[in-house]
Amino acid sequence: MNLNVSSLSYLSKISFCANDREVKDKDNRVVHRNTTWFFRNDLVWDELAKYLDENFSDSRKVNVYSIGCSDGSEPYSMAAAIKINSKNPDKFLPISASDYDEEMMKVIKKGIYPITSGERSSMVKNTKGRWDEYFENDGPNFIKPKITLKKEVNFSLNDAISTVNEVKYGDNVFMCRNFWPYLEAKDRIELAGKLREKMNKNSLLIIGAFDRQAIMLERMLMACGFINIEYAPEYSSNDRHYYSVWKKDEF
Ligand SMILES: C[S@@+](CC[C@H](N)C(=O)[O-])C[C@H]1O[C@@H](n2cnc3c(N)ncnc32)[C@H](O)[C@@H]1O
Repeated sequence: MNLNVSSLSYLSKISFCANDREVKDKDNRVVHRNTTWFFRNDLVWDELAKYLDENFSDSRKVNVYSIGCSDGSEPYSMAAAIKINSKNPDKFLPISASDYDEEMMKVIKKGIYPITSGERSSMVKNTKGRWDEYFENDGPNFIKPKITLKKEVNFSLNDAISTVNEVKYGDNVFMCRNFWPYLEAKDRIELAGKLREKMNKNSLLIIGAFDRQAIMLERMLMACGFINIEYAPEYSSNDRHYYSVWKKDEF
């Protein structure tokens, strides 16, 4: 793909969110954005990590994938949440993370991230205050994942369909969050179908708020044979996470 990058400098100090890079094609149409941040608030990360334990209590090994992982904020958040909240973190780690954007692989290699005060408070909450076991400050406005966290995520440059093609059927968790609106409708259906083929009755598909708000992805998922799971009932009164986690409907 011939990408013409129109961007804000990635490491400039962006006041609102950690990453606001926009990629456009030759006709100036948005191909995708890399927007992401640590402990993005459309998931209740600590509750999700606990739910993984409960849902996969009979499994010996669970493969967790972060597809469309952007700069790695998402898989690093999930790995830290698992390490701190799960009774058996090794069952779920390391996470396999992929993105088709080469620039993101460079950012991941550099490993220095601007962080907002909102991200910091979410990080403190979701790690029960133990964030500094996995992250270190690099000045007041930047953080770096420590080696204790880096070893828990394996990154690769890959598009979503190729990543899923390489996955074995079984106990899988697919974080496919906040990139579905960038896919054409036929590719969304193809991806949903391929994910479903690799999922057993315990497997989970996790989507994001942008997927729901921009294209009402949950309707397509229902039509493709998925059912919604509520993993954090005490948060039901707000929409932060609802319609995020899905299982295969074995009708
Ligand atoms: C908005 S970011 C979301 C990042 C992260 N999942 C999150 O929710 O915070 C979307 C990412 O999806 C990636 N992406 C878009 N289409 C993709 C595809 N077909 N295969 C792999 N990655 C893709 C983009 O490069 C971008 O980094």
